[in-house]
Amino acid sequence: MKISVVGTGYVGLVTGVSLSEIGHTVTCIDIDENKVNKMRQGKSPIYEPGLDEMMTKNIESNRLFFTTDHKQGFEGADVIYIAVGTPEKEDGSANLAFVEQVAKDIATNIKKDTIVVTKSTVPVGTNHKVKQIIHINLVNDVKVDIVSNPEFLKEGSAIEDSFHGDRIVVGSESAQAADIIEEINKPFGVTVYKTDIRSAEMIKYASNAFLATKISFINEISNICERVDANVEEVAEGMGMDKRIGSQFLKAGIGYGGSCFPKDTKALIQIAGNVDYEFELLKGVVNVNKKQQALLLNKLNERLPDLKGKRIALLGLAFKPNTDDMREAASIVVTENLIKAGAEIVAFDPIATENAKTLLSEKVNYAESAEEAIKGSDAALILTEWDEIKNVNREVFDTMNYPLVIDGRNCFKLEEMRERRVEYHSVGRPSIN
Ligand code: UGA
Repeated sequence: MKISVVGTGYVGLVTGVSLSEIGHTVTCIDIDENKVNKMRQGKSPIYEPGLDEMMTKNIESNRLFFTTDHKQGFEGADVIYIAVGTPEKEDGSANLAFVEQVAKDIATNIKKDTIVVTKSTVPVGTNHKVKQIIHINLVNDVKVDIVSNPEFLKEGSAIEDSFHGDRIVVGSESAQAADIIEEINKPFGVTVYKTDIRSAEMIKYASNAFLATKISFINEISNICERVDANVEEVAEGMGMDKRIGSQFLKAGIGYGGSCFPKDTKALIQIAGNVDYEFELLKGVVNVNKKQQALLLNKLNERLPDLKGKRIALLGLAFKPNTDDMREAASIVVTENLIKAGAEIVAFDPIATENAKTLLSEKVNYAESAEEAIKGSDAALILTEWDEIKNVNREVFDTMNYPLVIDGRNCFKLEEMRERRVEYHSVGRPSIN
C-alpha cells in the first residue's frame, strides 16, 4: 500500500514510521522544512525510545520518505492519514484549522480514488466536515472514503504501543474502506474494532476522559488517605485487584499533564456543552487536577513558609518519564511560584532540559545529575518519576543543607527514608518527620 501521512508530531511520525516498519511505502508530509531535513537523516524531532533506529532502518530500505510538498507527498497514495495538531482554543474547544486545511489540500491534489483517515483527535462530527470540505473542493473525478482511526499511543512508549496496543478503532461509512484499513494494520497483530464514524470519534475522547477521571479519583482518595493515616499505594493495589476496576492508572501523584488529557478533557466538556449537556463529572476531574498540581507547593509552604534565598532542587521537569515533552507539565506552575517566592532553583531532568530552557524562567539553574541538584539544597521536590531519580544514590540526602524531600510521585519506600533520617512527605502516604 502507498500511504501518505500529513503532520509529523508524535502521532503522525510514529504512525508513519510504524506503517513503514510493517512493509508499507510511506511518505510523511510536514510544512516545517528544518524538521523534514532532519527526519530525512533519520533524526526524530521528538524524543521517543526506539524511534530514530526504526526511522533510519526504513529510510535505508526505501520505504519511508519525508517531504514539505503536499502535491508530491500525495502522489499515487492509496490512503492519506491526517495527523496534524488540534490545539486547544481559549474556550477549551479544539482548533480544527489545520485539519480543515489538509482536507482542502487533499481535495485539490489527489488524482485517484483515496481513503482519507483521520488520526488527529477531533470532535464528533469533524470527519463528516472533512468529507464535505473534500467534496466541495475536489478537482478530479475520484472517489474519496473517510475513516476515523483515533490513536491511543502513549508518549514514551509509542513504538511499543503501536505493536502491542489493546485495539485499533476504525470508524467508517464504507465497509470496503474499513476492510482496507483493517488489512493495512494486520501485521501489527492488534484487534481491530469497527464502528461508525461518530462513535469512533467519541471513543477517543471518552477513553482519555475516563483515564483522566481514574487519575483524579485516586488523587482525591490520596488526599483523604493523608488525613486518615492510610497509604494510597496499598489502597490502589487492593482496589486494582478487582478486575472491574483494574490496577492501571491508579497511581496518585501531582496530577496529569501532557498534550492530551488536559486538552481532551476540556474539549469533551465543550462538545457536551454544545449539545446543551453539562458534563459535571468531567468538570470535577479537571478542577481536581488543577488543585493537585499545587500539592507540592502547599506541602513545601507548610514546612518552609519563607522561601527567600532557599535553594530548592527540582527533580524531573517533563510531564512524565521517558519523554522530553514539557506541555502542561507541573514543573511550569511549580517553577513560576518558587521564583515568585524568591527561591533559588536547581533543576534536573535527564532529557527535557533543552525544552525546559525555552519554557521556564531564565532564573532556573540546571544540574547534570539528580545528585548535583540535591547537594546543598534546603529541600528537594520530585515532579517526575524518572529512573535516574528513583535510583539516585541515597547518600546524597546526607549532603543536603537540610534533608527535606517532598515527593510528588512516590519514588521511594517509606522504610528506606525513615532509616536514612530524611524528612519525607509523599502523596497519600504517612509523612516521615
Ligand atoms: C495519553 C493516553 O494514555 C493515550 O492512550 C492517548 O493516546 C494519549 O494520551 C493521546 O491522547 O494522544 P500520554 O499523554 O502520552 O497518553 O501519557 P499518559 O501515560 O497517559 O500520562 C498522562 C499523565 O497522567 C501524565 O502526567 C502521568 O504522570 C499522569 N498519570 C498517569 C498519573 O498521574 N497517574 C497514573 O496512574 C497514570
